[in-house]
Amino acid sequence: MATTPDVMDKLVSLCKRRGFIFQSSEIYGGTGSVWDYGPLGVELKKNIKDRWWNAMVRARDDIEGLDAAILMHPRTWEASGHVAGFVDPLVDCRTCKGRFRADKLEDARCPQKPSKQPGQHDACALTEARNFNLMFKTHMGALEESASVVYLRPETAQGIFVNFLNVQGSMRQKVPFGIAQIGKAFRNEITPGNFIFRTREFEQMEMQFFVEPGTDMEWFEQWKALRMEWHYALGLQAERLKFHQHTAGELAHYARAAFDVTFDFGGTLGFQEIEGVHNRGDFDLSQHQQFSGKKLEYYDQQANKRYVPYVIETSVGADRVTLAVLVNAYREESVQGEDEGRVVLGLNASIAPIKAAIFPLTKKDGQPEMARRIVDDLRFAFPVDYDETGSIGKRYRRQDEVGTPYCITVDGESAAAGTVTVRDRDSLAQDRVDVSQLKAYLAGKLVG
Ligand code: GAP
Repeated sequence: MATTPDVMDKLVSLCKRRGFIFQSSEIYGGTGSVWDYGPLGVELKKNIKDRWWNAMVRARDDIEGLDAAILMHPRTWEASGHVAGFVDPLVDCRTCKGRFRADKLEDARCPQKPSKQPGQHDACALTEARNFNLMFKTHMGALEESASVVYLRPETAQGIFVNFLNVQGSMRQKVPFGIAQIGKAFRNEITPGNFIFRTREFEQMEMQFFVEPGTDMEWFEQWKALRMEWHYALGLQAERLKFHQHTAGELAHYARAAFDVTFDFGGTLGFQEIEGVHNRGDFDLSQHQQFSGKKLEYYDQQANKRYVPYVIETSVGADRVTLAVLVNAYREESVQGEDEGRVVLGLNASIAPIKAAIFPLTKKDGQPEMARRIVDDLRFAFPVDYDETGSIGKRYRRQDEVGTPYCITVDGESAAAGTVTVRDRDSLAQDRVDVSQLKAYLAGKLVG
């Protein structure tokens, strides 16, 4: 049971009001569980993706990057098991026309009587459960016939498996090594919801690490630990993170072992999966070998042996982590000496969409001009914002609410002394800094 408060409704409103996340096609009434990232949201998500890419690809010699296409040969999805098995059991209610997951009825509410679950109200008339494939299907080329069926990929991983030998050979990698990519995935979820938690279009950051069979559990443990470290370093509170081990009943048919990294989203949502770490054995490469007729073996020159590597997968949702980061960062607090409290997004500075905001204290005495010069000087080093409207207190509040770690004010002393004040979002402490040192001062603070 979660002990942390539910801030979701407040966040949804803040995200819309402050340009983080909008409902897709809102002017037409919205598209179900599809969201658009606004000016600040796109920066935040990009910063999270960059941190992942830096940790997984740039910082290591043994992981290569990839950007595979969304549309893949349809046989891919037969080999992966998605055509036959990527299904949820679905029931319809003949009375209210609601559609529910048969295996999650306890989590759903009857639209006619929300105190009960579907099927428990007298008027409910649920159909038999039937399997519903979650892949979006479309057609390639002009003919809408079965031969031209293609799918929007439901995970990015398969693009990595089919390119295993291309990457290994072209980059002269030796097992153990990994391939990482970030990209869109699509699932026609029956019960999406909770804002960007479960959506029909989302982004995954996946890495498949190819290892010699027999060394797999050792690597699995290493990746579990490394991935949890990454979430801590992102600023997620340690007490809101924990592993969930898949029981025999939960394990996917291909998985030899699986742990979820779960985060406490607060309220009734509580702890939920944000990332999966899976030992997939040789299932994927063996399946693609069989369906394509192409050998996907690795030749170990030193040991003079060939084998199909096992795969340790780390799979994290960029949108789900973005939501975790927002929930984790949101706080309301009182401010000493002020009547009004403040809302703060206590984002890790490295992922904050705006790193510094620059204000002239007044609109006279050359202060706006000096502030503009500072903006121009900093803008190629950091995303910055200029604001001259409203009281200084209001401007601070506006920046606190979107997580800007530093506010720089040009005041009456600035022109003569060549200095400005720099206010820290969290401690509210103010330093007086020489303008010529500003870039270095911020760079020192923003390392992370
Ligand atoms: N290749 C393995 C795989 O796709 P998954 O557990 O189905 O595993 C991995 O998905 C991650 O992708 C999840 O932990 C979650 O963060 C994200 N994810 C999955 N479905 C999602 C959805 N409908 N909306 C948003 N994120 C989703």
